[in-house]
Amino acid sequence: MRRQVNWTPYSDEDRCAFVAEWYDPNAALLRRYQLLYYTKDGSVEMFDMKSNRVFLKRTKYEDLHVEDLFVGNKINVFSRQLQLIEYADQYTARKLGSKKEKTLAVIKPDAFAKMGAIIELILSADLTITKMKMVLLTRKEAVDFYLEHQTKTFFNDLINFMISGPVIAMELLGDEAVCAWRRLMGPTNSATARSEEPNSLRAKFGTDGTKNATHGSDSVASAARELEFFFPTSGGRGPSNTAKYSDCTCCIIKPHAVSAKCTGTIIREIMDAGFEISALQMFKIEIANAEEFYEVYKGVVAEYSDMLVELCAGPCIAMEIRGEDAPKRFREFCGPSDPEIARHLRPKTLRARYGKSKVRNAVHCSDLPEDGLLEVQYFFKILEN
Ligand code: CMP
Repeated sequence: MRRQVNWTPYSDEDRCAFVAEWYDPNAALLRRYQLLYYTKDGSVEMFDMKSNRVFLKRTKYEDLHVEDLFVGNKINVFSRQLQLIEYADQYTARKLGSKKEKTLAVIKPDAFAKMGAIIELILSADLTITKMKMVLLTRKEAVDFYLEHQTKTFFNDLINFMISGPVIAMELLGDEAVCAWRRLMGPTNSATARSEEPNSLRAKFGTDGTKNATHGSDSVASAARELEFFFPTSGGRGPSNTAKYSDCTCCIIKPHAVSAKCTGTIIREIMDAGFEISALQMFKIEIANAEEFYEVYKGVVAEYSDMLVELCAGPCIAMEIRGEDAPKRFREFCGPSDPEIARHLRPKTLRARYGKSKVRNAVHCSDLPEDGLLEVQYFFKILEN
């Protein structure tokens, strides 16, 4: 097809091109745009394909990232939700691959205690966790989520099971993520999984047909709907977090440790040490929030500015940690804040093993017992809202 739109011809600048659709509620029309994304400066440009006119002049738009750009994905450009319909040229199709997908993964109540090991397996299968939240579903939420099964004989058992304890919902991104995650999970029935796919997650961590450790979307279309349920992008809040705000301390897996794929291992070690993880959520922190959160360290710690930069460097994972004397015991478990010192004095601690430097020291943990609750509230009450 010849395109009549007069966009900038290829230069040596790296540029991706898509056909995107937007539903215009006023005209009750699906409008089509040519969307160009310039990777060098993160700018976007749009052309109306019907009128051949510029719709959006090339503008920097920091909320859009190249990882968001693949066919089937919904993106937000200046508050307008666009569906990426197709790659508009072969260069983009080749470069970004038509295989990138998102899917919903849920760790169910029976496998909750094994979430660390399951996350380790997800990350070693080259799937990226782009959203994550611990929730305890209400009956209504569980019914809404599994509505397509409401006529099945196992429906009541399924609902009772799904509300029997917290679950971990995750958005996974990767090549053919829907299939890749389903392959990793194995057959629906855990007994069948044990005989047919003994290395699968359901074989290792599930019990039977209903208590089967994990859930995964069955298609790209279901994934979009199911992700919207847990992580709404167009209004609504989704299921609430599980923070209890008592006897707690706060732990944050820092962005460098998340990007080094240490999330699963750190969670596993925290749980193995007997701490309760009573809330958990992935956050992308803005600099203003980092300043607020680290306010007590301003003028006190020499690395303050670098700490802000690190906390905003990518997604981090905030957790409410509970247990007897949690603030003190958990701080000891994390080890001295400088990983070099930790490696000499307390080589088994989290910071000794996963820390890189004073700033990139794997985890933040609350310093004083009274800060624990305040920090948990900052993430799970203030930032979440
Ligand atoms: P999930 O992948 O979450 O999707 C629907 C769920 O229903 C499924 O995992 C199981 O937990 C449950 N389920 C599916 N089939 C059966 C069955 N035949 N008997 C009991 N439970 C089932």
